[in-house]
Amino acid sequence: MSYDVDRIRKDFPSLDTGIAFFDGPGGSQVPKVVGDAISKAITQATSNRGSVTISEQNADKCVTDYRSAVADLLNCDPKGVIYGRSWTQLTYDLSRNLAKQWGPGDEIIVSRLDHDSNIRPWLQAADAKGATVKWAEFDRETGELPVSAVTNLLSKKTKLVTVTGAANTLGTRPDIKEIGTAVKANGSLFAVDGVHLTPHASIDFKNLPIDFFGFSSYKLLGPHCGTLVADPAILETIANDKLRPSTMNVPERFEFGTLPYEIMAGVSASIDYIAGLDDQATGTRRERIEKSMKSLEVYEEELFHYLESELNTLPGIKLYGHAKRRTPTLYFNFPNVKGVEIYKFLATKKINAPAHNFYAYEVSLALGLGDEGAVRAGLAPYSTREDIDRLVSALREFLKTK
Ligand SMILES: Cc1ncc(COP(=O)(O)O)c(C=O)c1O
Repeated sequence: MSYDVDRIRKDFPSLDTGIAFFDGPGGSQVPKVVGDAISKAITQATSNRGSVTISEQNADKCVTDYRSAVADLLNCDPKGVIYGRSWTQLTYDLSRNLAKQWGPGDEIIVSRLDHDSNIRPWLQAADAKGATVKWAEFDRETGELPVSAVTNLLSKKTKLVTVTGAANTLGTRPDIKEIGTAVKANGSLFAVDGVHLTPHASIDFKNLPIDFFGFSSYKLLGPHCGTLVADPAILETIANDKLRPSTMNVPERFEFGTLPYEIMAGVSASIDYIAGLDDQATGTRRERIEKSMKSLEVYEEELFHYLESELNTLPGIKLYGHAKRRTPTLYFNFPNVKGVEIYKFLATKKINAPAHNFYAYEVSLALGLGDEGAVRAGLAPYSTREDIDRLVSALREFLKTK
């Protein structure tokens, strides 16, 4: 393994600001090559997609390159890769399409550990069809979502189960393989929100018992957009509204209007970049991605232990959740201090660690944190021990002002 964070950091122009970025779970910084790819795609000869003119071919290539890059990132079929403006938009579309087949008496299962974009669209779609929603509850103390918390809710009427691949505040990584195996054995569909998981783990979609999976590139060194993936054979069974002249083919029929070719080129460049995070990775792009993501996991895990142990030295700190498997993301606060005060103090020291519910609204309410939530510090591929030392000493300084 070779993970050279100093080499990697040089690729990110925004790090020249001297800011220590702990806000990666909200959106990562972006390497220059991604910006260059977007710029090239938007300024080269471009028309609508087609095969006749060079400019049509350029646009078409942005789309096909995007699908094959995502297929390499997640090990899925490029024909099952759907572009979306965001995961929220994709979940709204998917839930409404699937709900066309639901009715009173049908059931769906959502988890309280999730970001609201993987809860509310499903609730609203179920409500519109008179279907019943069951809630899988996480353990308030540990932050775990036990497999049984989901599988105990399964019944013959369960149409769909959805859980997060990783919780964006507590970091919990539920056992999606075991949950999915039970869900598939029950004959139900299984959707996983991979937005917070994908930046931290190697994903092998074809070998997971998951029907729908998605991520947002802007959390993963890329531009602001989302992607949903599925087996194209499943997509063929889903009816959706579309314009009359637009194609019936999947995945295109789920992507409305003219696609943003330059953004897609940015996604492809970010995935190419990820493939090179480990500079000793060789082989196909998929092989290099797997190797690089594993090296990143090792790097982040070590750094995460350091972050957690250093934060634990601070008097009075309350860290929420300590699930066995977690992404390198911590959610914390201090007694009688508003998270926003800490957030603003850290900003004066060029340290980005915002405080919010981060749309994990149900988590925030369940933990008694209301709308305000707590402070979140997440690691990203460019994070360092020095960043952590700066965060901890700034927090110590803040506590002295209290
Ligand atoms: C776990 C998780 N799911 C979904 C989302 C929403 O993603 P998008 O902004 O692409 O709709 C986020 C964003 O913070 C997230 O962290």
